Amino acid sequence: MKKIETIGIVGAGAMGRGIAQLAAQAGLEVLLFDLNAQAVAAALDTLQKMWEKLVGKGKITSELARDSLARVKACSDLKAMAKAGLVVEAIVERLDVKRQLFQQLEEVVAPDCILVSNTSSLSITAIAAACKLPARVAGYHFFNPVPLMKVVEVIDGLRTDPAVGDALMQLARSMGHTPVRAKDMPGFIVNHAGRGMNVEGVLLAQEGIAPFYQVDAIMREQAGFRMGPYELLDLTALDVSHPVMESIYRQFYDEPRFRPSPVTAVRYAGGMLGRKTGEGFYRYVDGKKQVPVAPPVPEGQPGLRVWVAPYHCIGHKRASALLRTLGVGVIATDAPPADALIVVTPYGEDTSTVVGEHQLDGERTVALDTFFGLEKGKRRVLMCSPATLPQWRDAAHALFASDGTEVSVVNDSAGFVAQRMVATIVNVACDIAQQSIATPEDIDKAVSLGLGYPSGGPLSMGDALGAAQLLEILRAMHKVTGGSRYRASLWLQRRVQLGLSLRTEPACVAR
Ligand code: NAI
Repeated sequence: MKKIETIGIVGAGAMGRGIAQLAAQAGLEVLLFDLNAQAVAAALDTLQKMWEKLVGKGKITSELARDSLARVKACSDLKAMAKAGLVVEAIVERLDVKRQLFQQLEEVVAPDCILVSNTSSLSITAIAAACKLPARVAGYHFFNPVPLMKVVEVIDGLRTDPAVGDALMQLARSMGHTPVRAKDMPGFIVNHAGRGMNVEGVLLAQEGIAPFYQVDAIMREQAGFRMGPYELLDLTALDVSHPVMESIYRQFYDEPRFRPSPVTAVRYAGGMLGRKTGEGFYRYVDGKKQVPVAPPVPEGQPGLRVWVAPYHCIGHKRASALLRTLGVGVIATDAPPADALIVVTPYGEDTSTVVGEHQLDGERTVALDTFFGLEKGKRRVLMCSPATLPQWRDAAHALFASDGTEVSVVNDSAGFVAQRMVATIVNVACDIAQQSIATPEDIDKAVSLGLGYPSGGPLSMGDALGAAQLLEILRAMHKVTGGSRYRASLWLQRRVQLGLSLRTEPACVAR
């Protein structure tokens, strides 16, 4: 493939501008066209200001700013794209309009010019189907804001020549971005993987498990994420996220794992879109998120006796160890004494299921999430059944907060909050691997850079937390809820059965 020195960009909106900035800074000549000439002028103005700002902050030299600006050429006619070695389409997200543009481009560009779409949700194969030379058409999916989101998905349509994808990977690297390679499947990698947190988050809201701010705090402070699901949805805004949820769900033919919820549909219809409208899951005053004040830690019960259920070996061990450090002796009888707080430590089950299965006293039973560890300072999560009495909830809250660690108390939920969210995230990522949409390495790279998830990506996270335990959680959630959305991915099951890392590709393949 010829070295790409001139890049055409059609569509000078948010994405087109970002791609122009990246390419020009990397030394490429940029031809920028938009149906709306004002959009091109506005883009140049924005770019100039952006580069001045970067010079002011000492991030780039004034020479680079000057040269980058000189490299961007405003074009008033699509014919100007004739010179380009690559044309990136970043126009309105409509298949008919994109197809028409690609046909027009084919009339203008050289036969070896690569044509790519920045689409988030349309099929590359479907766009290419309108072209005379579909082999040169691929997806090049950047994220917003382009210069800061340092990952790009390179998507091979069914007819894309692999050398085209290779050239795009190389170009991305030369611009300082990390390219990942994906098959043409709905949501590609990042928007597909994002279903885990988004969809499970809105389902938690629908089930009324806990106030939004508590769920977000749990995801940050217990599971180590940068943001919880509602903070993330408020940031991306529901006019973007809700249609994406619907679109990916439909494109996978009503896959239960991706089923959206009326929770976001109503908010979307009501204009409570998130940060940008001043109200979403949170209210924003002067751009600042308003977080409700958590209830105070209740008074502890002196002389409280605690019985820890032995049903889950790891959970029992962790809970007992913590209680010892909190100075509470754990009662070692087979059955709980009549006056003790009962602590259960389920993996994937709700409190009610454990109470019912073991004939415990539901009024005195509280569940403790031990899956993420119970170190001091890491938020702890307690879960009540509908039978738990407030005095036992308060006694447990006071006890587990007695070393100054934050405690959230949530309603009964199969998989607490973070267990179910993380298990779902890992499961969805495993299924992306199972469908060969991308390699395990690229799934981890794409998700950690595109979504900012911790632990180097969802498959590595699954390995670190314990794939066997995550499988156990999913199976229990599946059993308790009956929801096929929790069925475990075959990728996950097989790697647990074989004792392999979730990042293991098959040693040999079908032929
Ligand atoms: P935008 O609305 O900011 O800009 C689109 C631009 O395309 C407008 O300036 C419009 O005048 C122009 N345009 C529309 N039809 C045209 C045509 N036929 N020929 C030439 N110009 C035309 O849109 P944005 O956000 O930049 O998105 C562009 C593409 O990138 C879409 O496919 C979108 O799905 C995708 N994308 C958007 C992301 C985002 O966060 N905004 C992230 C990743 C992908």
